Amino acid sequence: MTANPKAAIAERLAEARERTLELIAPLDDAQLNTVFSPILSPLAWDLGHIANFEELWLVQTIGGRESMDGELGRFYDAIENPRKTRGELPILRDAELRSYMADVRERTLEVLETIDIAADAEDPLLREGFVYEMLLAHELQHNETMLQLLQMVPGYESALVEDLLALQPSVPGPDTVVVPAGVHEIGAGERGFAYDNERGRHPVELAAFEIDRTPVSNGAYIELMKDAGAEPPLYWEPDGDGGWIDTARGRRAAIDPSHPVVHVSWEQADAFARWAGKRLPSEQEWEAARPHLDGVGHAWEWTASDFLAYPGFKAFPYPEYSEVFFGPEHKVLRGGSWATHPSVARPSFRNWDLPQRRQIFSGLRCARDA
Ligand SMILES: [Fe+2]
Repeated sequence: MTANPKAAIAERLAEARERTLELIAPLDDAQLNTVFSPILSPLAWDLGHIANFEELWLVQTIGGRESMDGELGRFYDAIENPRKTRGELPILRDAELRSYMADVRERTLEVLETIDIAADAEDPLLREGFVYEMLLAHELQHNETMLQLLQMVPGYESALVEDLLALQPSVPGPDTVVVPAGVHEIGAGERGFAYDNERGRHPVELAAFEIDRTPVSNGAYIELMKDAGAEPPLYWEPDGDGGWIDTARGRRAAIDPSHPVVHVSWEQADAFARWAGKRLPSEQEWEAARPHLDGVGHAWEWTASDFLAYPGFKAFPYPEYSEVFFGPEHKVLRGGSWATHPSVARPSFRNWDLPQRRQIFSGLRCARDA
């Protein structure tokens, strides 16, 4: 890491891009263009969208430059183009896609040299380098979406994925911590990068509650399946011998009962908590208990909370990141998974998805009233 803030940004942009390219390195162009699931984009769309988002914000918006191809933005708009339609769009592919990514990056670095990113910069997009932090987070978050898709690619092998999975902790459970009744500050403070949905920081009064120190393990989830006939997580198949194997990425690997369970829906998570005589924590409880929790960052943890605006919410810098998703149809997940870059998983970060979704790296931990 270098002391010059612009050089540091350039370095971090390069690191994020390296990670993106490392993830797709084992694949050929045909695999990048394949639609594996109607709920996920072909990887070529993610790659073009990452670069187009970069062009929109770091070249056009703050650099004041014309777009390289006026039409392109339409096809990479995530709201205009639902995932199930993205394989049919006239998006960039193959060599054209790779050269667009490189051309945008070249322009980004030219613009970076010309702008003021001081802490007191007048433009809120530039203050503390906000727009660059947003772009870095965007690319790294798309890496996780790409990893969701890569779980569906038979034979996909990556040293990066193996390294991340090797860090999976044992989650013995069911040790718990009691958080006494009190007022807790929830959300991101004024300084530092955060999304609009994490602000503003506000006091929340919570009754005393008890929360598990660790997320629910595969072994505990197997007990629920045995006892209550619950559906297995996504990618699990019976091994024919009363056990379960993990078929993600086309492998057939024994399930490690000590690892946190992932690929369960909110409905499955909620059912587990009830079966255990407990409940899912609210996202405020989760955040209040965060300093006491182990195993954070290995599985996204479903909470009982709907994805709603905090008091005083202001959409920034565009309403399509959070605001259009607010409402009771999306449930909040907290924490982060093995597929999440650590810089994304700050304590106030709020993830959200539909309650039936299981392609995300989602597990849970349980709570109850104290
Ligand atoms: Fe995006």
